Parts: sequence; C-alpha cells; structure tokens
Amino acid sequence: MTEVALLKFLRENPFVLAPMAGITDNAFRSFMRELGCGIVVSELVSATGLFFNSGRTRDLMKFESSQHPVGIQLFGENPEHLASAAKEVEARGADFVDLNLGCPVPKVVKKGAGSALLREPLRLAAILRVLKGSVKIPVTIKIRTGWDEGSRNAEEIVRLAHEEGVTWVAIHGRTRAAGYSGAADWDYMSRVQQAADLPIIGNGDIRSGAQAVDRLRTSGCAAVMIGRGCLKNPWIFRQATALWKGQLDEGPKDFPRLLTQLRAHYEKDASERVTNIQLKKFSAWFSAGYPNSAQFRRGLFAATDLDEVLRLASEYFLSVQDLVQGDTSAEPFLMGGHG
Ligand SMILES: Cc1cc2nc3c(=O)[nH]c(=O)nc-3n(C[C@H](O)[C@H](O)[C@H](O)COP(=O)(O)O)c2cc1C
Repeated sequence: MTEVALLKFLRENPFVLAPMAGITDNAFRSFMRELGCGIVVSELVSATGLFFNSGRTRDLMKFESSQHPVGIQLFGENPEHLASAAKEVEARGADFVDLNLGCPVPKVVKKGAGSALLREPLRLAAILRVLKGSVKIPVTIKIRTGWDEGSRNAEEIVRLAHEEGVTWVAIHGRTRAAGYSGAADWDYMSRVQQAADLPIIGNGDIRSGAQAVDRLRTSGCAAVMIGRGCLKNPWIFRQATALWKGQLDEGPKDFPRLLTQLRAHYEKDASERVTNIQLKKFSAWFSAGYPNSAQFRRGLFAATDLDEVLRLASEYFLSVQDLVQGDTSAEPFLMGGHG
C-alpha cells in the first residue's frame, strides 16, 4: 500500500490496535478488525530470528487478507537482518513495516534493540535509512517517550524519523524506565504532535470508547492506539468509531455471538489446544468488572474441552450482558510487555 493510501485509511479510522505479543496473533487481529478497529500490527518479530530461518518466528508473520491494512512489526539491531526481514514483510503483501523502538525487556535492550535505540539517535537514523532503502511499502515506528524521565527525547526521534521518510510514529506515553507504572503522559504526546511534521499515534491507558475519542480530540494526535483496553471491553473499537462519527447508538452487547466469532477465527488458524487456551484467556478478561467473575473464571479454567468452555462462557455472559460492566481500570492489569 502506498503511504498516501495508508494515511487515508488512518484518517478514516483513527483507532489502531496495539501490538501485544502472545495476544494480537493472526486470529485475534481478524477478530478485532471485524469488531471495528482500523489498522492492525503484528506482535514483534525478530529480524535476526528470520535471518537464521526460524520457522516459529516466521509463523508470527501470517495474516488474513481481511486484515488489510496490516503491518508487521520487526525488532532487532542488525541493519542487514532488518533489511532482509523488511523485504520479506513486503513480499508477503503486508501494507507497512513497523520497527519496535519501545520494547523495555532486558534481553532485547541488552543487545541494543527495542527502546535501547532511543538512546542512540545516530545509529537509529542509519537503521531507518537502510530500512527505507530496502522496501517500497511505508516504514513506521513505535517508541516510548524516552529512555527515562531525565532523557525524554520523543521530539528528537520524531524529527529524525521524518527526515528518514518514516510515515508515522506511534508513542506509548511512558519512558522505558517507567515500564507500565504510572500514567501515560498524554500532554507530552500532544506537545510532540504539535511540533511534528508527521502523524503521531498516541497510546496508553485508553479503556473505553468515550476515552478513546476524548484522547483523540484533546491530544490533537492523528490517531490513537488501544491495547489492553480491548481485552476487557472487546467492543471498544466499535464504540469509539460510533461516537467519533457522532452516532450515539453503540449496538447491543451480544456475548454468545462474540464468542462464536472468536472461536471461528481460532479454529481457522490454530490447533484445538491453542483455541481452548485463547478462549479461556479472553473470556476471563472479558468478564472483568461483572458480578461473580472470579467464580466464573475458576470454573472456566477447570474445564477441559472446548465445548464446555464455550458453554460455561455463554451461560455466564448471558446472565451479565445487560448489566453495566464495573470499572476495573484502577486495578493493575498486564503490567509488562514488549513495547
Ligand atoms: C502483553 C503485552 C505485550 C506487548 N507486546 C508488544 C509488542 O510486541 N510490540 C510493541 O510495540 N508493544 C507491545 N506491547 C505494548 C503495547 O503495544 C502498548 O504500547 C501498551 O500496552 C500500552 O497501551 P495500552 O495501555 O493501550 O495497553 C505489549 C503490551 C502488553 C501488555
């Protein structure tokens, strides 16, 4: 996809699914596209792993055609490996290649990849030049606000990215040192967007459709990215897009239909064992804030076969789906990840 076409899509639906390793796999991305999100990105894929021909790494690059526009996110520090991986992303028909510059995980950072590159703008610029030179599809990046509080440099990274021809910069509004603690700094992201010559996608702590629209409007960011929010509220993208278009009607919550859709995506793509695990995991997250959810989760994880999992989940959700979901946003939730 050309940069112009990709940016048009971003303007038409500025609610982007955040990459989450182990969660936003091929099936889940198709599911979220069906539920109204705009652009989707794969979880991080090791460029060096691809270079040394790892089949498991390559599996992470699969995507369904229903996901377009879809990007593949790479991480690495070796320009040769990154260029070769980017070519493979393009050859597979992905619409853009995204570079992970936010991963705080020590194993990644120690090698000089992920958020470590935020501390080395010159090396980063050289890598971006090699990436841009190796593909025709757009190149995007996802960063943190900086390495730590004393060295926040997103503005500098954005300037450099623009000079190297990057199409947009997604920012998780925390420093690498903050990990997942404290709140994402939306004022800072807003300032970065004001000074930027390219679109900024703001990210961090969006937990409802109304909040997504509010962040989009008040921050001035070109788009917003939602990660953990869609795990407790799978309708968050539908709600956000409806509100954004001025449509108040969010549509009914229909959990049995939702679970059937989710199952179908996993059955198409994954083994029965993985389908079973993912359905349990997602049903448990979806139940957050509803009455007796702890008891429901205990029963759910004790179930062995998929039909039983589906039966328990459908029964439970039918009993709660007309209730208002309690606000659990103050509770710690998935306080670690690769970006
Ligand atoms: C379990 C988990 C895995 C993640 N994996 C990735 C990843 O592969 N690549 C990436 O850029 N960010 C990754 N992230 C970071 C998210 O994309 C996002 O920046 C972060 O969760 C903050 O947004 P949220 O509050 O909307 O979840 C991950 C986050 C979590 C919780």
